[in-house]
Amino acid sequence: MFVTNNSQEKLAVITGATGGLGSRFCWRLADQGYRLLLIDRNQPALDALAADITNDCDAGIETKCVNLVDEAAVTALADHLAALTEIALLVNNAGFGQSKYFVDIDIDNHIDMINLHVHTPVRLCHAVLPGMLARNGGAIINVASLSAWTPCAGIVQYSATKQYLVTFTEAVSEELKGTDVTIQALCPAFIKTDFFATDAMSTFEAQRVPGWLWVTPDDVVSDSLKHLDRVIVVPGLACRMLGRLMRMPAARPFVRRLATNRRPERQ
Ligand SMILES: NC(=O)c1ccc[n+]([C@@H]2O[C@H](COP(=O)([O-])OP(=O)(O)OC[C@H]3O[C@@H](n4cnc5c(N)ncnc54)[C@H](OP(=O)(O)O)[C@@H]3O)[C@@H](O)[C@H]2O)c1
Repeated sequence: MFVTNNSQEKLAVITGATGGLGSRFCWRLADQGYRLLLIDRNQPALDALAADITNDCDAGIETKCVNLVDEAAVTALADHLAALTEIALLVNNAGFGQSKYFVDIDIDNHIDMINLHVHTPVRLCHAVLPGMLARNGGAIINVASLSAWTPCAGIVQYSATKQYLVTFTEAVSEELKGTDVTIQALCPAFIKTDFFATDAMSTFEAQRVPGWLWVTPDDVVSDSLKHLDRVIVVPGLACRMLGRLMRMPAARPFVRRLATNRRPERQ
């Protein structure tokens, strides 16, 4: 279980804060007494979430409107975080999906995804880790996906970037051994959020996904915070079992074929 001693003094930073999973992290952490720094790219949505949480819990909340694919803005954000001395938790959660063939997606959209899922979390981890190590305390949650192990048609960049995040997290965790700083790759299967409601995901047929692969945002947050000392967390027992099978090298060709949701129409 996450240690919440002196949590009033502690700050949790959450990216993609207003989204389905991010907002659940915010509510839960506010409930545990954390001060929050909410980061997303829509100021009215940030203001609304901050007001809702403040009405309910007496949490100190700051917001920052940042487009996390903009390199200059992310560098400025990283500088800001590096200067903060009380960050106890960083949740790199912002993300988006794609559901077309690699060649049918605009290259700028691919680069945005690489920036959001790879460049930004790497930069923010690099900004907060020195402070955490100096204080010998803190945790980072990098929200990846079970898709990290499903390199299949229609989610080429998503799968590749989430695999990067898992490998990066696992390797950094080795460097943190012997300290009280932890890092986790959170790898949910399918979460009931608006993730699938975007234009970019319009060709994804969510109804074809078996019910047992779906988890709620609340359950994902619970599993993540309960197991902050684990490097890879796959929420949900059935998903966890599947995840173990999928990680076996012999399973890879089958996973590639079976995990393809539907072959997207070529443009
Ligand atoms: N839903 C799933 O089935 C699922 C499964 C496994 C992993 N995940 C991962 O879980 C994380 C959260 O996803 P979710 O399901 O909560 O989806 P979501 O409801 O769409 O939330 C994603 C959040 O990220 C924000 N975001 C996207 N691009 C951004 C940018 N350029 N700058 C700043 N913020 C940006 C979104 O803001 P806007 O609202 O402005 O777009 C939104 O608040 C993602 O990393 C996703 O890959 C999701």
